[in-house]
Amino acid sequence: MPAFKTLDDLTNLSGKRVLVRVDLNVPVSDGKVTDKTRIERVAPTIQELSREGAKVILLAHFGRPKGEPVADMSLSLIVSAVNEVLGTKILFAADCIGPDAEKAVDSMKDGDILLLENTRFHKGEEKNDAAFTEALAKNGDIFVNDAFSAAHRAHASTEGLAHHLPAYAGRTMQEELEALEKGLGNPARPVVAIVGGAKVSTKIDLLQNLVKKVDALVIGGGMANTFVAAKGVNVGKSLCEHDLAETAKAIMAEAEASGCAIVLPVDGVVAREFKAGAANETVAIDAIPADAMMLDVGPKSVDAVSDWISKASTLVWNGPLGAFEIEPFDKATVAAARHAAEQTKAGKLISVAGGGDTVAALNHAGVADDFSYVSTAGGAFLEWMEGKELPGVAVLTKNG
Ligand code: 3PG
Ligand code: MG
Repeated sequence: MPAFKTLDDLTNLSGKRVLVRVDLNVPVSDGKVTDKTRIERVAPTIQELSREGAKVILLAHFGRPKGEPVADMSLSLIVSAVNEVLGTKILFAADCIGPDAEKAVDSMKDGDILLLENTRFHKGEEKNDAAFTEALAKNGDIFVNDAFSAAHRAHASTEGLAHHLPAYAGRTMQEELEALEKGLGNPARPVVAIVGGAKVSTKIDLLQNLVKKVDALVIGGGMANTFVAAKGVNVGKSLCEHDLAETAKAIMAEAEASGCAIVLPVDGVVAREFKAGAANETVAIDAIPADAMMLDVGPKSVDAVSDWISKASTLVWNGPLGAFEIEPFDKATVAAARHAAEQTKAGKLISVAGGGDTVAALNHAGVADDFSYVSTAGGAFLEWMEGKELPGVAVLTKNG
């Protein structure tokens, strides 16, 4: 992994103004933050810098306001949740640049924490505009990026600032990059990837990259139907992208050429309606009734997945094996997740998972804490699995 600087490379922080890019893009419902995980993840970096006497100035986006202020995308809505997680009262400024920001920064004492308003209230943020980036940089001496989950965006606060100020990875960014390096960068073999979710169309690049890197690729969820259908199996009313049959065949051919085993379901749990508790039966993959749809992979398929997990030294997981959000179609995902968690706890497996649905599925299975690393990143995790360079990471390693 290319080198990057971390907080360990920072000394004499007392009185220094440190601009810290964090991801506070958390779910909010009725004015309340419903999942504080992302805040918890950035707390160590904030606390460490504050303890060392830095003036900690937080930069973040919230939602997609498209370059102008939008009241319900104000970061002021997040302040009390941040206070709760940090166990201290942070300051807030109503703008991330200009007089409001400057006044707030000037009044800070060493160790204070200040959150600046949503960077995306300015058009310059997403354009990575030089004048806007300079206006942000004016309030800082040092830039720390702790937002891996926004690192796929080449925005002013995620990429641009690293060209204006000495740039460092925060603790969460560091931990994430180290975990991902163990997952696919330089993994212990055999490496198994589990990729699930509804559609092949959203994950073509990812599948093409993985077959070149992993020893076995387990395909589950709705996207598995597209693969088995491409092999001539009748999938009945199952979710299936028939127009991607050629793409699926090409991915299978590439896998064969690279020595990557493709693990497809051999049986499935089928139902006539997509709802919790729907009447269902388990059938062989080539016996899906014409009027039924597959909502989960079956027990024989789970055994095959579990065998691969047992053989693996490294597991990378994105996407559920079935419709885990409606019982009883969560069984395969839960069983495979628990097996991976056990192998990890026994010290036999490095398990790295990421993506919104995946985290929800692992939480549902009660094993998120037992994986080696669970990323809170959505799009950034997918782009990493696609083998793409993430601008927010690239700029740290180039300057590292
Ligand atoms: C996320 O929620 O995945 C990140 O915060 C990035 O948000 P974005 O997709 O709006 O850029
Ligand atoms: Mg660490």
